[in-house]
Amino acid sequence: THPTRIVLQSFEYILICLSCFILLYYRCAIRRRTAKIRKPVAPGEHDDLRVGILGLGHLGKQLCLALLEKTKIKPSHIKISTRRPELAVEFVHTEVECFFDNRRLAAWADVLFLCCLPSQIPKVCVDLRSHLAKHCLVYSFTSAIPVTRLAKLLGHDYILKPKYDVVSCDTVDVWLSCSHVASALADPLLIEASCPLTMKGGISLGLNWVCAVLYILLNICTSASLGSSEALLLIKSIFKEKCGDTVQLNAHSFINSSYASSLLSDEPFPWISLMDAQIRETPLLRFLSSSKSVQQCLSAAYKSQMETPAK
Ligand SMILES: *[C@@H]1O[C@H](CO)[C@@H](O)[C@H](O)[C@H]1NC(C)=O
Repeated sequence: THPTRIVLQSFEYILICLSCFILLYYRCAIRRRTAKIRKPVAPGEHDDLRVGILGLGHLGKQLCLALLEKTKIKPSHIKISTRRPELAVEFVHTEVECFFDNRRLAAWADVLFLCCLPSQIPKVCVDLRSHLAKHCLVYSFTSAIPVTRLAKLLGHDYILKPKYDVVSCDTVDVWLSCSHVASALADPLLIEASCPLTMKGGISLGLNWVCAVLYILLNICTSASLGSSEALLLIKSIFKEKCGDTVQLNAHSFINSSYASSLLSDEPFPWISLMDAQIRETPLLRFLSSSKSVQQCLSAAYKSQMETPAK
């Protein structure tokens, strides 16, 4: 395999785990907080993150194994839709369910990973269209198809796609030993190299991607009807362990000044479009670009998440 491909793929896996992990972390935190304010749980509401994987080639398999090994996601909360479910031998003795029904997967999942080949995407989108739950986050690995086109094909714009900045440097070698994600995730050198916003492995995720992930966290708070000040406290709690209270995030860091100034503390943030977060310059992008110290805190939080065994 071409080394660059290995680099890109390993990097993707690792970051997927990160985003799932943090999503889950937030769900739990929100649950604890809502329990504190005794918000009744509506019928049909569920607390644990439900992860759908569409496609079970090399990518889908590695992703599923890494999620089982490195995150707290319950095996019964992972489902896979694949044309050949009988080939999913690795998962027979787990509670991971495999079937071939893309629509059922779409209607069930909170996060849906598209792990199919780029050539299968148009057909898959026809299947999924109008079956995705409203706030289902679709994670696309396909770099060949821009998010805006994918949004049109799916009729759904809650989509995240990794976008890399590749720079030349002399430490790209660290990636060459990496072919399986689970082992990569145990390697401190690779964790260091995969850290968002740092350049050690010659490749990094752009600030736009990091902003989109933070906006997803904000949206999770909004869909749980948390007031803006509670939401900010939760977001700041990521940085707390590594950076204490030095990170000065407020409503203005996330949304425009006119909206932020009139936002009441018990009023939820507005729903943030992921398209805007990935394509346009947002208040958060301006804030992060101008603050090296917050970038360093994000990197530190990432490393500590990745280095802590999940189980
Ligand atoms: C400010 O943000 C709100 C919510 O995201 C948006 O609806 C509004 O159009 C924005 N206003 C300006 C002037 O950008």
